[in-house]
Amino acid sequence: MGSNVNRRWLLAARPSGNLKDSDFQLDTQPMPEPGEGEFVIKVTHLSFDPTQRGWIGGDTYLPAVKIGEVVRAGGAGEVVASKNPNFPVGMKVQGAVGWQEYCLTDGKGWWPTVPLHPGLSPELALGLFGTTGITAYFGLLDIGQPKAGDVVLVSGAAGATGSVVGQIAKAMGCTAIGIAGGKTKCDWVVETAGFDACIDYKSEPVAKRIRELAPKGVNVVFENVGGEILDAALANLALKARVILCGGISSYNAASAAEIQGLKNYMQLTVMRARMEGFIVLDYAARFGEAAQALGKWMAEGKVKSIEDVQEGFENIPATLRRLFEGKNFGKQLLRL
Ligand SMILES: NC(=O)c1ccc[n+]([C@@H]2O[C@H](COP(=O)([O-])OP(=O)(O)OC[C@H]3O[C@@H](n4cnc5c(N)ncnc54)[C@H](OP(=O)(O)O)[C@@H]3O)[C@@H](O)[C@H]2O)c1
Repeated sequence: MGSNVNRRWLLAARPSGNLKDSDFQLDTQPMPEPGEGEFVIKVTHLSFDPTQRGWIGGDTYLPAVKIGEVVRAGGAGEVVASKNPNFPVGMKVQGAVGWQEYCLTDGKGWWPTVPLHPGLSPELALGLFGTTGITAYFGLLDIGQPKAGDVVLVSGAAGATGSVVGQIAKAMGCTAIGIAGGKTKCDWVVETAGFDACIDYKSEPVAKRIRELAPKGVNVVFENVGGEILDAALANLALKARVILCGGISSYNAASAAEIQGLKNYMQLTVMRARMEGFIVLDYAARFGEAAQALGKWMAEGKVKSIEDVQEGFENIPATLRRLFEGKNFGKQLLRL
């Protein structure tokens, strides 16, 4: 298999507040050997997702990663040893591989291992055609139900999910307005991701700018950030607006509930007869193929593109997770081992 050891990043402490180096610990183990029904994946790519902060912080929609366990992560790689006929040596796969160089698995669990679709690079499989694109697709279409001509407001617009949401909205004939941090990101959201406009929440009054850009209100809000940004969106709803609560990254590093910014404008949901609904992409597992087909069609038509931000190196894994919370990533955050 080319190596005798398996390097792994373990959870060393339950994080509180911003992530620290001391929350993770490097560990070296002998190369795992597959038992009956098992196989070993040489990990080549890792996906970085804000939800990982939740997984290591405590119980969420999945049980918390325990102290001393390999940090949970999705990724892709190649089977290098196998006692499972469904996953022969040489097969390219994706699944829950974790922060390690070699993953021993039976392929089952909350995120089962599946072969990489032939013709899809690991970057595409983990990005546009992975949970990122699928989250954007089902959140926007199923919950947001956009119609041509609607105004769609997207927070976290320069991120993985947000940048795909805006592109889908444009492909469906909507106006896409983004919210992102900093001028460079806002320029990128318009020029590279193709939104109609983008508001810099770090230097502009967000609620006022939404009002200027969408004087009749916004029909769909795709919320990735929460807190003050969601409040600014709620202040600008159109009648019967749909607010998709995809995520609230502004609160993920909060050390306690007291640090989380509550909502002041929620009664606008009543005034505007609007609806706010959350979802978890895993709920749509049975329909993932539908999203992949639609995204593939839009990509072939040049309407939606995959935008990835690929870091390098096993040593840089914890720092790469922090990039999401420091706003350093443009598009989907990945790392190549
Ligand atoms: N419901 C689901 O099933 C599901 C599935 C996938 C993702 N999500 C959620 O979708 C959201 C986006 O995830 P992603 O994977 O696409 O990540 P991402 O947007 O690529 O990366 C995170 C971005 O969030 C912004 N951010 C970080 N801290 C912030 C803060 N305090 N205030 C405002 N913005 C902040 C940063 O952009 P700026 O530089 O612009 O600040 C950063 O680049 C997350 O909330 C995630 O939990 C939900």
